[in-house]
Amino acid sequence: MTPKTAQEIRSAFTSFFSERGHAVLPSASLIPRDPTVLFTVAGMVPFKPYFLGEETSPHPRAVTVQKCVRAGGKHNDLDEIGRTRRHLTFFEMLGNFSFGDYFKAEAIDWAWEFTTEGLGFDPDRLWVTVHHRDDEAAEIWREAAGVSPQRIQRMGEDNYWRMAETGPCGPCSEIFFDKGPEFGPDGGPAHGGEDRYLEFWNLVFMQFDQRPEGQVPLPEPSIDTGAGLERILTLIQGVESVFDIDEMVQLVGEASSVTGVKLGASPHSDVTLRSLAEHARTTAFLISDWVFTSNEDRRIGAMCCAASCAGPSAGPICWASPRR
Ligand code: ALA
Repeated sequence: MTPKTAQEIRSAFTSFFSERGHAVLPSASLIPRDPTVLFTVAGMVPFKPYFLGEETSPHPRAVTVQKCVRAGGKHNDLDEIGRTRRHLTFFEMLGNFSFGDYFKAEAIDWAWEFTTEGLGFDPDRLWVTVHHRDDEAAEIWREAAGVSPQRIQRMGEDNYWRMAETGPCGPCSEIFFDKGPEFGPDGGPAHGGEDRYLEFWNLVFMQFDQRPEGQVPLPEPSIDTGAGLERILTLIQGVESVFDIDEMVQLVGEASSVTGVKLGASPHSDVTLRSLAEHARTTAFLISDWVFTSNEDRRIGAMCCAASCAGPSAGPICWASPRR
């Protein structure tokens, strides 16, 4: 049985990687212990010290379903909300991680196996992209995973992932699902447009630390992957956009009933209704992690910096996990 609901997909993903030696860890807070990002923008953020070799992970392999918000800094999707079929400021990222343990071959092999067997996606609808200098990844997709060379495309900056202006980074490889000709022209993700070819999983081959003065190699090559739960649900539920998956549909309906504006009244009001629903969802998750509004600075709840605070809390930036 392939998973159908959000909970079934979360649990299929964590079980798959747990069976392959990954420790199943809980989602970290949306407030990162890191000043280079405003919110937790990806599953790897809580693990940054492990990638950089500043701390040693108790587990060489981990799997998480991480709450993420992309609404500031380098990864900021605020302006896309309601206008594209695939962007959300809050989303859940399914990720498997290797901290100096396995590298490209296993990451690619397992991503392909989970996509085709775990999720049951038709291999003939899948495309992959690799960094234009990453011959090794292209060969693994071709030889080990058996992806047809016509559906492996090379891209430049789009296939190089960075956490922020500084921090861990490396070439990456993305998996796309072809939603069909009604969503845009042929040609694969490099030419056909992002509405037709939906990117749902990014595999980052972490190799460098981006510093202000340039890149230095990481102590050990590592793996950071991220698959978008809501994008996978869009594909599994066969709906047009992330706003049509069952939990978002209800929120958009609520925005419509609160405002008295019907979905479909105009393209402009549709963007507004989707934004209201989406931002309400993001805000609810932020508040539940003790983020409060401010027009001045990055601040979180005063209770966090009580005497029990574990981190070197300096000024407006709190380094500790929020406490209740
Ligand atoms: N960290 C990578 C991303 O967010 C997986 O796309």
